[in-house]
Amino acid sequence: MKESEVIKGKFYSVHIDAKLKSLRSFLKEKKYSSVIVLTDSNTQEFCLEEFLALTRLKIFFHINIEAGEENKTLETAIAVWNKMLPVADRKSLLINLGGGVVSDTGAFAASVFKRGIDFINVPTTLLSMTDAAIGGKNGVDFGFKKNQLGTFAHPKAIFISVSWLKSVSDLEMKSAYGEIAKQALLDGKKRWKNFLEHFSSKENTEDVIASAIKFKLKIVDKDLKDHGIRKQLNLGHTVGHALESFCLEKGRPVPHGMAVAAGMICELRLSEQVFKKKNFFHAEIEFLKINFPRVEFSESELPEILSFISSDKKNENRKVKPALLEKIGKANWENEVSLKKIEASLNEYIKS
Ligand SMILES: NC(=O)c1ccc[n+]([C@@H]2O[C@H](COP(=O)([O-])OP(=O)(O)OC[C@H]3O[C@@H](n4cnc5c(N)ncnc54)[C@H](O)[C@@H]3O)[C@@H](O)[C@H]2O)c1
Repeated sequence: MKESEVIKGKFYSVHIDAKLKSLRSFLKEKKYSSVIVLTDSNTQEFCLEEFLALTRLKIFFHINIEAGEENKTLETAIAVWNKMLPVADRKSLLINLGGGVVSDTGAFAASVFKRGIDFINVPTTLLSMTDAAIGGKNGVDFGFKKNQLGTFAHPKAIFISVSWLKSVSDLEMKSAYGEIAKQALLDGKKRWKNFLEHFSSKENTEDVIASAIKFKLKIVDKDLKDHGIRKQLNLGHTVGHALESFCLEKGRPVPHGMAVAAGMICELRLSEQVFKKKNFFHAEIEFLKINFPRVEFSESELPEILSFISSDKKNENRKVKPALLEKIGKANWENEVSLKKIEASLNEYIKS
């Protein structure tokens, strides 16, 4: 394990650097007119003090938002803009210090404020270090539907220190492994094997983060706007986002990666049907069933969950085309799958 590593993407670099020295140099070099640090209530409590000590940032403005997916909304973005207005100009920098909710909301807010100001992400959850902070998709939920309002805009850089993970709850760590498992299945057999080894040992977290970043950058650098290969990253997300949105609306939110793990169980079963490979993903489905907390919903709630799938922003001409897996390392996103089949996979999830 290296003490620090720089992963260069097409548009920006990701610095894995426990002491955030690279961020200190970045701030020194850029000479922003003002710096604003965005936190949520948890990263304000657990990360802000250490962040200020590491970066030696003395003159800055601080904006705090409430933690939780239920706050990834336009209302929160408006509150951020209101607080930025008196202190930020076009040469200001917004630092998103938090998990995916802070980076999605903050990056969205920065990317439209005065037609776009610079922002950087300092992800503080494993999920945001490996996925949410990377890739240039920013946005907020709207009408309980995931990521309905947003922009494509890149951070100037991303700075990762694994030391933030010490205060992240076990449930949120599990959630992260939902997304990492998805990436590993897409990446190929070797990465899946490495992932399983790490999952049981929990060793070499920096290496797992670095592999995740390299994989995601490799895809999004070729297809930022989801026209082709990026669609594979939606594996587990057609069903997963519907479950996440539904549970959010019902006031019983589930962590994002947990919903994705449940979505993958359904979508791997759909993959077996579409590619006519009975029980082909048995081992992977069992792994997901055993290692991720269940998302609870009942048969009578299926119509509402399916209505979220019908209005998923990924649909084209009302056709639902989930990202499916032909085999580990080979995704396919061209097949239409009927709501009836998706309903059957959700029913099987409830019963199995
Ligand atoms: N833009 C993208 O490409 C992309 C990709 C994947 C996921 N996402 C989004 O990311 C979000 C999920 O990200 P997440 O799991 O980081 O959620 P999150 O930001 O809600 O963080 C999870 C919880 O951990 C807390 N937290 C954060 N850092 C902490 C720390 N160091 N110590 C203690 N507590 C801490 C948060 O306050 C929150 O309560 C979802 O909204 C999802 O849609 C976006």
